[in-house]
Amino acid sequence: MQSVVNEALNPQEKVLIDQAIAEHGGRPGELLGILEAVQSANAHKYLPMESLRYIAAQTRVPPARVYSAATFYALFNLDPQGDNVVCVCRGTACHTRGSRDLLEKVCLDLGMSERDLDDNNEADKLSLTTPDQRFTIRTVACFGQCALAPVVELNHHILSRVNERTLQREVQALKQGRK
Ligand code: FES
Repeated sequence: MQSVVNEALNPQEKVLIDQAIAEHGGRPGELLGILEAVQSANAHKYLPMESLRYIAAQTRVPPARVYSAATFYALFNLDPQGDNVVCVCRGTACHTRGSRDLLEKVCLDLGMSERDLDDNNEADKLSLTTPDQRFTIRTVACFGQCALAPVVELNHHILSRVNERTLQREVQALKQGRK
């Protein structure tokens, strides 16, 4: 496995990971800290498979454990993320206040078909990125702000009691680079 890792990662990427390991190693929750730091340093905010293998090799944590941590926590991405991230809550409170319609509308506005949505219809695990990598649409099981439903997060900014018109306006502003 080590030789594959060495071919796949460039020296700079390895240095970044080594630094994350040096910073978080030996602390409680070190694996999660390492994964978070490595993802945050990645230009597309995700954890490539070769990075996971390298982390496993360097920390001597079994690769299956590294992979299962990266897949278990919603905060980690295994695919490249778009420049802008739209995250629609699909929890019960938001669902009853129309979050499915919001999700469909934003997908259509960004040129994705209902088929894309249906092909990825695990409500709390959707992650779709536009071919130009400008937008990623995700879903979350609950933001913990149910009184403000429906809730949508745009680039880490929470919007509450969202309706289709508001969401369309916000996404349009991002498309035009006004935000
Ligand atoms: S269900 Fe959407 S914030 Fe809780």
